Amino acid sequence: MQNKISVVENDFVPTGYAVQRERGTVTWKAPSNIALVKYWGKKENQIPANPSLSFTLDACNTTTTLSFIKRENGGTDFSFDLFFEGKAKEDFRPKIELFFSRAKPYLPFLTDYHFKIETSNSFPHSSGIASSASGMAALSLCFMDLEKQLNPDMDTDFMLQKASFLARLGSGSACRSIQGDLIQWGTHSEIPGSSNHYGIHYPFKVHEVFKNYHDTILLVDKGKKQVSSSVGHNLMHGHPYADNRFEQAHENISRLKPVFAEGNLKEFINIVESEALTLHAMMMTSVPYFVLMKPNTLEIINTIWEFRKESNTNLCFTLDAGANVHVLYPEFEKEKVHQFIKNELIVFCEKEQYICDRIGFGAKKINIAYK
Ligand code: PMV
Repeated sequence: MQNKISVVENDFVPTGYAVQRERGTVTWKAPSNIALVKYWGKKENQIPANPSLSFTLDACNTTTTLSFIKRENGGTDFSFDLFFEGKAKEDFRPKIELFFSRAKPYLPFLTDYHFKIETSNSFPHSSGIASSASGMAALSLCFMDLEKQLNPDMDTDFMLQKASFLARLGSGSACRSIQGDLIQWGTHSEIPGSSNHYGIHYPFKVHEVFKNYHDTILLVDKGKKQVSSSVGHNLMHGHPYADNRFEQAHENISRLKPVFAEGNLKEFINIVESEALTLHAMMMTSVPYFVLMKPNTLEIINTIWEFRKESNTNLCFTLDAGANVHVLYPEFEKEKVHQFIKNELIVFCEKEQYICDRIGFGAKKINIAYK
C-alpha cells in the first residue's frame, strides 16, 4: 500500500525541536483572497482537482491570537478553547478539531499544549463572505510562528510555505491567503514550482495595470451559505462536465500568462467572467443542483455589462460560491467605477452594503510574546 504521506508532505514533518517553550501568545492577521481561476472539486487529503489562481485581498481579513500553555503530561487528544469576536464559539469546534487532526503529523506539538484561539474578522460575520480562507491562514501562521520558536533556524520561506501547506488542510483556498499579491495553487505543466500542496507566488511577468487592482464586494445576500464548500466540492465527483471543467482551468491559467504580461484587460475580463459563470454552471448542473445567484446578482451583472459597453471601461465581475458580486477594476478607472457603483449598483445590495477592497500583499504578524 502506498504511504499516505508523500515525499513533499514528508518535508513538512519536523525531525525534532531545538528549544522548549512553556507558554506564550502570538497574533497574526491574514487576508481573504478572490479566485480568478476557480478551485472547485477536490481529491483526498485536500488535493485540488484543478489549479487555481487568486488575487490576495487586503481589507477583508481575520486576526487570530493563539495562546499556548504546556500541559502537565502532554496528551493524545487536543485541548483548546475557541473565541470568536470575544465570545466562546462552540460551533467552530468540529472544523478546528478536523484541522488539528489533519495537521498533527506535521505539528507534533499540537497535543503538548492547551491552546486558546481568539479570532475576529474585519468584515461582518453575516456578510456572506467566507472567513475560512483568512481564518485558516491566520491560525496556520500562528502555529508556524510557535514552531519557529521551537526551531529558530527555520527560514522564513519555509515557514510561509509550510503555513500555506497547513492552511490548505483546513480549507483549500486558505493556502492562497498567506502571501500576495497573485497566488497560484495546484500543479500546472507550464508553471514551474507549482504544487498541489501549497500556494506559490505567480512566477511570471505581471503588467503594472494589475498592480493595484480593486475589488469592491457587493453584499447581495448576507445570509448563511446555502451550500457549504465541502458539499460543493463533493458534487464534482461523478459530475458529467467535471473533466472538461478541470481541463478548462488548466487552459485558462495558460491563457492568462500573456494577458498578465501584456496587461490585456479585455482578455482578462473574458477569462475571469467566464470562470465565475462556469463555477455557477457547475453548481446548476450537479446532482443535486443549486442556484446560488439571486435576482440581484443578475441585475448587477447586466448593469456592469451595459456600463462597460457605454463607458468603454474595464471593470468586470467575479463570484464566489454565493450571491455576492466582486467588482474588479484597475486603479486608473477607480473614480469612474466608484461613481457607477454608488449610482447604479448599491441599490441591488442588501441594506446597500458593500466593501471596498483591493489587492494585498499577504499576512502580517501583529505581536508576539513568549515566556
Ligand atoms: O477553500 P474552499 O474549500 O472553501 O473552496 C473555495 C471555493 C471557491 O471559493 C468557490 C473558489 C476558490 O478557488 O476560492
